[in-house]
Amino acid sequence: MVGRHRGKMRQRDLGTSATPTTTAATPPTSLAATPLTTSAIGLGCMGLSQGYGPADDDESIRVIHRALDLGVRMLDTAISYGRGHNEQLIGRALAGRHDDVAVATKFGIVRGDDGVRLDARPEHVRGYCESSLRRLGVEAIDLYYLHRVDPEVPVAETIGAMADLVAEGKVRHLGVSEITVAQLDQAAATHPITAVQFEWSLLWRESEADIVPAARRLGIGLVPYSPLGRGLLTATLDAATVDRSDFRRTDARFHDEALNDNLRQVAALRDLATKLGVTSGQLALAWLLAQGPDVVPIPGTRNRRRLSENVAAADLELSPAHLDRLDAALAPGTWSGDRTSFAVPVTTRRSVS
Ligand SMILES: NC(=O)c1ccc[n+]([C@@H]2O[C@H](COP(=O)([O-])OP(=O)(O)OC[C@H]3O[C@@H](n4cnc5c(N)ncnc54)[C@H](OP(=O)(O)O)[C@@H]3O)[C@@H](O)[C@H]2O)c1
Repeated sequence: MVGRHRGKMRQRDLGTSATPTTTAATPPTSLAATPLTTSAIGLGCMGLSQGYGPADDDESIRVIHRALDLGVRMLDTAISYGRGHNEQLIGRALAGRHDDVAVATKFGIVRGDDGVRLDARPEHVRGYCESSLRRLGVEAIDLYYLHRVDPEVPVAETIGAMADLVAEGKVRHLGVSEITVAQLDQAAATHPITAVQFEWSLLWRESEADIVPAARRLGIGLVPYSPLGRGLLTATLDAATVDRSDFRRTDARFHDEALNDNLRQVAALRDLATKLGVTSGQLALAWLLAQGPDVVPIPGTRNRRRLSENVAAADLELSPAHLDRLDAALAPGTWSGDRTSFAVPVTTRRSVS
């Protein structure tokens, strides 16, 4: 049965894993003293500036306002999304409403006319942060992520520079994204880390074998990005839509035979969703939320109706039998095509380990 809670969207604490375990090699952190409380589901804002086709700024602002009205308390952005456009848009949307929501932004990926590169040199971190503060129109960033570890810079050096920003009050919490377990350990040994962001959904479950247990061992909150499998898990995606969007065309899971295979895989999700009277996307989000109270997915959409649909997934409760059925039908490794997004040599965790 799918149960529904009425009222305000449930809240979650990041950085206070329910049962963090510690060993001699992983001394306890002080994360529990400074949890970041947020809604069970956040809003991924990337698509409002890049990735899935054109967006309209006025409608995007309405999407953000609808999210706040529905109880969303986490907006996810990055300097690189639209090369600053996304942060500016959020700054405009939140004018006078900054206290209503936590804003998470990221630095480390630099998009320029000559393509995409990484830069997380410690001497540049302050400049990136100050430019984000200006665009967002805030005095402090609630959650500041290292978007990608810079292969030229030991992660502890970048985190050290980020820790200085916390000490100065420019940043409240630190996060990391697309990181290996070894790097996560080094980051957490340098400064408490509140959240780790990584691709996790019924489409891509590889991180259940490494980052998920590592983050829980360290008491770090889990923020799955692309939780709708970049749209695939909504069972509404087709080849024509992929052709029109710039982001998925470079991802092997959305090409030719792999896309056809994957659309067939989605049928199992759609069948169970239909039986439960929910949408496939809602079921995919409910499955993620059922993975633990430390999981805060950030689905993205440019559309208010879809936003409402996604947020309503926070009210769904799946029975153990339904979770078992999804686990079996959409087990890790059952999908076609490797996960290869833009800037792949530096954005695939396995290639930088
Ligand atoms: N840390 C990182 O490296 C990283 C990487 C990627 C993303 N992210 C973050 O994660 C967020 C979410 O990831 P994502 O946007 O890549 O993928 P996603 O949330 O899995 O999927 C977004 C796609 O699904 C579509 N969609 C959303 N809700 C839908 C619904 N109810 N029915 C049908 N289609 C729906 C959207 O289209 P419409 O817009 O047309 O609704 C869009 O094409 C991003 O916004 C970003 O903030 C972080």
